[in-house]
Amino acid sequence: MEIIHVSAECYPVAKVGGLADVVGALPKYQNRLGHFAKVVVPAYDTKFVRESDFEVTYDAWSQYGNNSFQFRVLKEKTNKLGFDLYIVHIQGLTDRPNVYGYDDDTERFIAFQIATLDWIAQWEHRPDVIHCHDHHTGLIPFMMKNSIKYQHLSNVPSILTIHNAQYQGQFGWDKLYYLPAFDLWKAGLLEWDKDINPLASAIKCAWRVTTVSPSYLDEMMNNARGLESLLRQERWKCSGILNGIDTEVWNPETDPMLGTNFNLKTVEKGKQENKNDICNVFGLDASKPLFAFIGRLVDEKGADLLPDIFYSSLYKHGKDIGILVLGSGDGWVEGRLNQIKDSYKGNYNVYIGYNEALSHQIYAGADFLLMPSRVEPCGLNQLYSLRYGTVPIVRRIGGLKDTVIDIGDDGFGICHDQTNVWDVTHAIDRGLQLFNDKKKFKATRKTIMKIDHSWDKAANNYIELYQILK
Ligand code: ADP
Ligand code: GLC
Repeated sequence: MEIIHVSAECYPVAKVGGLADVVGALPKYQNRLGHFAKVVVPAYDTKFVRESDFEVTYDAWSQYGNNSFQFRVLKEKTNKLGFDLYIVHIQGLTDRPNVYGYDDDTERFIAFQIATLDWIAQWEHRPDVIHCHDHHTGLIPFMMKNSIKYQHLSNVPSILTIHNAQYQGQFGWDKLYYLPAFDLWKAGLLEWDKDINPLASAIKCAWRVTTVSPSYLDEMMNNARGLESLLRQERWKCSGILNGIDTEVWNPETDPMLGTNFNLKTVEKGKQENKNDICNVFGLDASKPLFAFIGRLVDEKGADLLPDIFYSSLYKHGKDIGILVLGSGDGWVEGRLNQIKDSYKGNYNVYIGYNEALSHQIYAGADFLLMPSRVEPCGLNQLYSLRYGTVPIVRRIGGLKDTVIDIGDDGFGICHDQTNVWDVTHAIDRGLQLFNDKKKFKATRKTIMKIDHSWDKAANNYIELYQILK
């Protein structure tokens, strides 16, 4: 089948979070199953884009509202990612260093979606499926069905994957005229809660909707930032497909970002050496259990509670534990996380910012990874930590619930029920106990490294879904 993934992020082209990891891996594994999956993303000004070789495959003019723009679709020449990568260059709109965070993000992503459909619409053949990811590509199912200029794409199945319903991309009706002409009586298909809502529109218009774990799908029926009733109504076309991971990028045995590679046989020594390396850099004691947090510092991840959780655990366990944080986001949280360094030097440190290599080194060197998320559609961090022999400490929610079983229930991780200071500090206490039970701790590391969350297993779930629509 020919599958077109359209997304705002794709690793290693441009990454903010797990969306990039999924879009950078799933197509590769779909191709290995004998399909022809391609990826289309905006042409940002990122290192990958600057340093790769592209050729122009399409060059045209288009418009959103009264704004004409010239765009070019460029194809990466070497197929080094395991799929055909196309980047859509729109001068002045896509060619910026960051993926999100600009005042004109609405305009940027509308222009990107229009350019993508203009390009596909003039192909001589039609693809088998267009797979949209999150709200940045959420207007595509509507436009395919209703825009006069894309009429002959109206029979092509569209799929929406919701990676995170917290972000919906709403904007006002004054921008309705940005969209290519359609019968105005269909405007209701764009609407949710008085706004134009790209995520809601895609839930209404896509042929099928998926979420990135079965539990998240269930939870969304009661907690989806206002979209609950819509999702309940459209439940018949929704399914939860658990994410996989790219076990080639995330392989402790070959990962070029690690100081020391390791496998099941060398895990004890390998992890200790990686731990020594990061402890040296961050001034921590490598003989103590190391608890880490990696991620966006936003409420959804429970980041606002991290400072109090750390103060509480450090006060209780003094010199017996180490804590290391890698993340960026909310300025208030960043400030408080920085402050802890003054009181607990040698036991605590934080790196504010985004650092891909450091994340790999922490997954490899830490003993425990904390994920006290309030909402977690899937979560990839816990899957990477399992593969790198790091015991996840997670809240039972969304994808975390679907992938981590508590050690007390014959499982391999530490789970807690709520995102609050008490539950998480208690979970850290349990981690400390496990660390001190050397035999059990070693056995747990081996168990978790063997768990298979590869896309090898999961990629076919999407293919089966597309096939229903053929
Ligand atoms: P989300 O997409 O909600 O942020 P996921 O768990 O799905 O959460 O994926 C997060 C991805 O982003 C992982 O690959 C994680 O390692 C990475 N990541 C998050 N924050 C950072 C950071 N500050 N530096 C490096 N990598 C990060
Ligand atoms: C989102 C979610 C995260 C998920 C990722 C990839 O960013 O917050 O839980 O793992 O998408 O699907």
